Amino acid sequence: MNLVRSRIVGTGAYLPARVVTNDELAVQVDTSDEWIVQRTGIRKRHFAAKDEKTSDLAIRAAQAALESAGLQGSDIDLIVLATATPDQTFPATATRVQAALGMEVGIAFDVQAVCSGFIYALAVADNFVRVGQARKALVIGAETFSRILDWEDRGTCVLFGDGAGAVVLSAEQGDGTSADHGVLTTHLHSDGRHHDLLYVDGGVSSTRTVGHVRMAGREVFKHAVVRLAEVVDEALEATGISPADIDWLVPHQANKRIIDAMGKKLDLDPNRVVMTVDQHANTSAASVPLALDVAVRDGRIQPGHLVLMEAMGGGFTWASALVRW
Ligand code: UT7
Repeated sequence: MNLVRSRIVGTGAYLPARVVTNDELAVQVDTSDEWIVQRTGIRKRHFAAKDEKTSDLAIRAAQAALESAGLQGSDIDLIVLATATPDQTFPATATRVQAALGMEVGIAFDVQAVCSGFIYALAVADNFVRVGQARKALVIGAETFSRILDWEDRGTCVLFGDGAGAVVLSAEQGDGTSADHGVLTTHLHSDGRHHDLLYVDGGVSSTRTVGHVRMAGREVFKHAVVRLAEVVDEALEATGISPADIDWLVPHQANKRIIDAMGKKLDLDPNRVVMTVDQHANTSAASVPLALDVAVRDGRIQPGHLVLMEAMGGGFTWASALVRW
């Protein structure tokens, strides 16, 4: 069966220049490097400069992805940008990226699924490509969580960082089997009943303030392990692929303990799990494409490899995607 697939033909990432170590945080917050490393695996994070916006990070990641794909902004006909920390209430941050890349036609919009945002955006763009509404798409995850952290809440402020990651999708003819290159399957879920476990206590139509991250960490942790296991199984069942065939797990980078649990569940050699949370903490929608870019650039992910991505975030939202490189 002939089928259009979205093949990932380029990746890019950008982390702001300013690095903040755990020790540096411990000067102003009642915490320690030991606690943060033991409970999360995080060693440092990057914070955007005062005048650096989410779109600036996204543009840098998008440019790197275009360069690695050998394409220009004018070749792209769709941008889907995942963020929970947009530049402005409107317009979409994606439209700023569109203008900066010199893309004068086509579609650009944001999606909001917090930490699952990149996989949501990938699924949306993949569907556009599969129905023929786009041929070349940029999928971006970009965040400036440093702007919404409460420095009085040590349970959350040590966990997050800023960054951006991007991939370029290109329409390619497949034969409808799991041997095709490209996005093989995506699975998205949300359950709004869990709103109060992870949210920002501000917003345009509620408090008219930006607000701060609020999280019941232990509860989120428990849900994450269960939901991620379920959504990973869904991707495997939908494609008839067994865990032993997975070359790389590229999970949401929130907590090393959650990532380890997912690797164990799939019975994967820890060397086949891409872990970058130590380098940039939880960057929400940027975390999966940041990790992906590292593993592509250092040569771990090779053409033909099966790459499984998963994420979970506020909403709750959770999602998985299985891609053949
Ligand atoms: O990206 C969206 C999805 N989000 C996640 O996946 C996050 C999921 N949750 C987590 O990663 C973990 O729950 C945390 C890392 C947030 C917390 O780890 P935990 O093992 O669940 O710790 P806890 O919240 O149960 O807190 C344990 C202790 C508490 O002290 P007591 O009550 O035992 O005396 C906290 O007050 O650790 C204390 N604590 C801290 N101590 C030093 C909390 N934050 C800190 C801190 N430094 N920064």
